[in-house]
Amino acid sequence: MELARLLHGDPQTDTDGITIAHGRGYELFGTLAFGGRRNHVFTRLAEISGARPGDRALDLGCGTGYLTQRMATAVSPAGSALGIDPSAQVVEHARKLAAKQPNCTFERGIAEQLDAADDSFDVVVSSLMVHHLPAPVRPQAVAEMYRVLRPGGRLMIADFRPPRGRVGRHLVGAVTGPAMENNPIDLLEALVRDARFEEVSAGDLHPWIRYVTAAKPPTRTAAAKPATRGAAR
Ligand SMILES: C[S@@+](CC[C@H](N)C(=O)[O-])C[C@H]1O[C@@H](n2cnc3c(N)ncnc32)[C@H](O)[C@@H]1O
Repeated sequence: MELARLLHGDPQTDTDGITIAHGRGYELFGTLAFGGRRNHVFTRLAEISGARPGDRALDLGCGTGYLTQRMATAVSPAGSALGIDPSAQVVEHARKLAAKQPNCTFERGIAEQLDAADDSFDVVVSSLMVHHLPAPVRPQAVAEMYRVLRPGGRLMIADFRPPRGRVGRHLVGAVTGPAMENNPIDLLEALVRDARFEEVSAGDLHPWIRYVTAAKPPTRTAAAKPATRGAAR
């Protein structure tokens, strides 16, 4: 189905994930699907991420950059937001949409193998991306989020919460395909905990967003380190 392809695209050769096929069509769908609340929801997600002025923020699976732009605003004036997506077409589209925000940039890449140094971001966010990844790749992507966050850095992952009723689910499946209909959103918290994140908590935003926030543990100070066996008396 064409709409499912627009949302979930074709398999890529350089990733096991799947990408948006058309930036402009995706923008139109996003506007309609949030029923007029898209700006409100994504502005809240940027707030919920804990981003502060001066932070370096990373948005994985950024698509057309809707959240990346709001992250760039949240970290202004001295901070920056980088959006990463495997789709060249979508990255190009995102760059045009954010042309007036010089602290908002975009690169091609995949969440499960980031071209970024350890501890290099203050905040990592991702919206509506995790359900694009095949299940075995998801832990690897969250492990990468952990690796590139600085100690004490914040994580926010948002994804699609399918309707609880069978009819609603069927409808979602018919319109968007099985990835969203069967999205195992309740596993998101465990995925984040398993990657060693702390302070994990979750919430919902109307109409159909579930988000999880967490923190990478701060580096232990020398005083807080457990005593070595030889030193324990
Ligand atoms: C539904 S869109 C969400 C876009 C945007 N974050 C939003 O909230 O509107 C999912 C995005 O994930 C991207 N994606 C797919 N596989 C990926 C991967 N392995 N790593 C990073 N992004 C991926 C797709 O190209 C697509 O742009």
